[in-house]
Amino acid sequence: MAKLWKGRTTAKTSSLADKFNSSIKVDKRMYKEDIEGSIAHVAMLTHCNIINKSDEKKIRSALKKILTEIENGKLKISEKAEDIHMFVEEILTKRIGAVGKKLHTARSRNDQVALDIRLNLRKEIVLINYTIDRLISLIIKVADENRNTIMPGFTHLQKAQPVTFAHYILAYGMMFKRDMERLYDLYKRVNISPIGACALAGTTYKTDRVYEAKLLGMDAVCENSIDAVSDRDFIVEFSSDLAIIAMHLSRLAEETIIFTSAEFNYIELSDAVTTGSSIMPQKKNSDMAELVRGKTGRVYGNLMNILTLLKGLPLAYNKDMQEDKELVFDSIDTVKDSLEIFIEMISTMKINKDKMQKDAVYGFINATDLADYLVTKGMPFRDAYKVSGEIVRYCTLKNEKDASSNLTLETLPIEVYRKFSKLFEQDVYKFINLENCVKRRTSLGGTSPSNIDRQIEYLKK
Ligand code: ARG
Repeated sequence: MAKLWKGRTTAKTSSLADKFNSSIKVDKRMYKEDIEGSIAHVAMLTHCNIINKSDEKKIRSALKKILTEIENGKLKISEKAEDIHMFVEEILTKRIGAVGKKLHTARSRNDQVALDIRLNLRKEIVLINYTIDRLISLIIKVADENRNTIMPGFTHLQKAQPVTFAHYILAYGMMFKRDMERLYDLYKRVNISPIGACALAGTTYKTDRVYEAKLLGMDAVCENSIDAVSDRDFIVEFSSDLAIIAMHLSRLAEETIIFTSAEFNYIELSDAVTTGSSIMPQKKNSDMAELVRGKTGRVYGNLMNILTLLKGLPLAYNKDMQEDKELVFDSIDTVKDSLEIFIEMISTMKINKDKMQKDAVYGFINATDLADYLVTKGMPFRDAYKVSGEIVRYCTLKNEKDASSNLTLETLPIEVYRKFSKLFEQDVYKFINLENCVKRRTSLGGTSPSNIDRQIEYLKK
């Protein structure tokens, strides 16, 4: 490919240098944005009487044709090109001759690449938010179907208190909602136009940057031309927002792995998203969840990488910046795939309500409620806590000695209760019944059914 920047130097660059310098493999995915940007640029140049209408027509229709041909596969993007900007411009001049060379008036690749990546990322933000929205809708559906599915809630991965599966899964809904909000907020900072900053200092042509930004549907222009070509904050932010999404997905992945183990067996994934072992016939592995968990490392790495890339980088454009796109694109692709695989996993999974319920019964997760019972009878909470703890200890020791005894707070005889405190009466059983424990947690955000309605409403908005 010819070098459009040859002038100051005359000798050929080495093939090794060409290969090292080329970013086409990565930035070719911005072909559409590059062409859209050029069409807006040529329109602005005409609007400002910098080029004439007949030249504009030629350039615009040639650019549109290039776009169509790339899209329908007729024109292949050559990997020999230095980058997508050079590729498009070269094809353009090849096709319409000298007129094509007028396109690059009052711009530089420095503001051009900054524009292309902003246009590309604003599109990706919308796509990712759409995918998260689908995931949240699915979470709402599962929550709705599991309002009464009681399960043990955990702290320290030890059974803690009874909650419903609806309450549990809605916690993830809240996390993903924040992820969407972060991306919406970022959109404001991405959708600002750097084009017209040129190499760094602006231009002597009487251009209209605001006009061009409007054509591109951008909300404003970067105010400082040096900042316009140096700023990659929005890439750092996007990479960081994606790292947070990956972190959320990795927690969901980890719990999926735990909950699908034979020991828990709270959920069963469909065969379509699990794998077997090549040697152990009994295995049904949650590989997809493990991969989502594993790929989180890659997304964190990309964030560290971009931060390090920009550290101490002098203004304005430096070729280091060419590396930024590969990183953020990789995070985008990884997070999108991870979201999609989770949508498939959740929409096809089976929830073992009985096993959750059974686990909730054997585990003394109503011990807090037992203490609360004594409090309703007048005992101070600290004392009640102690009595409840002694009763749990009593049952555990009995169960250890005799495996068949299976003592729970629900089955402990009232005479035994009364040995620990005379405040215990027959109504204790109703009080510590798991369903009642759940229903009583009406404090805002708690696990009671009324709260679940409220949380679903909140997410639907
Ligand atoms: N391929 C380059 C990049 O991605 C485009 C900008 C090149 N500008 C320059 N002055 N060499 O950053």
